[in-house]
Amino acid sequence: MNQRDPDQLTIPPDGRALTEQPRWRQDFPIDWPQDEYISRRDFVKFLLLTSLAFTSGQFWVLAQNFLRERNGQLPIHAITKLVDLPVGGSVTFDYPGPNEPRVLVRLDEQNLVAYGQQCTHLSCPVIVQAEAGQLHCPCHEGLFDLASGRPLAGPPRRPLPRVTLELRDGVIYATGVEERTV
Ligand code: FES
Repeated sequence: MNQRDPDQLTIPPDGRALTEQPRWRQDFPIDWPQDEYISRRDFVKFLLLTSLAFTSGQFWVLAQNFLRERNGQLPIHAITKLVDLPVGGSVTFDYPGPNEPRVLVRLDEQNLVAYGQQCTHLSCPVIVQAEAGQLHCPCHEGLFDLASGRPLAGPPRRPLPRVTLELRDGVIYATGVEERTV
């Protein structure tokens, strides 16, 4: 007798024998186990493609940053006037591209810092808590040190990218971005 692989058996959806099925179903039997097997295979394929797209995206961003830094292509961008930013105040801006949110904070009379505003865990926007000397990520309670941008608590492990600044004629400019791993 020809033993078929159970995964290859045709089982009508109502469970009755094939001979008891309507003519149309006998002519076009649906192989449910095979169908489910294909669904599983498609799902695994989907997962692999999604992971591949995500990884490629990460490499693309890293390559872009690397090329920009190597070629010194980052533009100089005026953020705000110093007089418009009180001590403890902050302002958000995009730099160097339109979808790269950054946050500038005035720590005291002399010191300014600016960081990427996207948390290094899963990219939620961080919020400045100047009095506490930290940046807070509300998504998973991540905390970064305001003076250094380094992670203090929660899931983030990498510091926030630092935007280099220059003060010229009372105007604060962004001049570059330092991607950091530690
Ligand atoms: S996205 Fe910031 S802690 Fe998770």
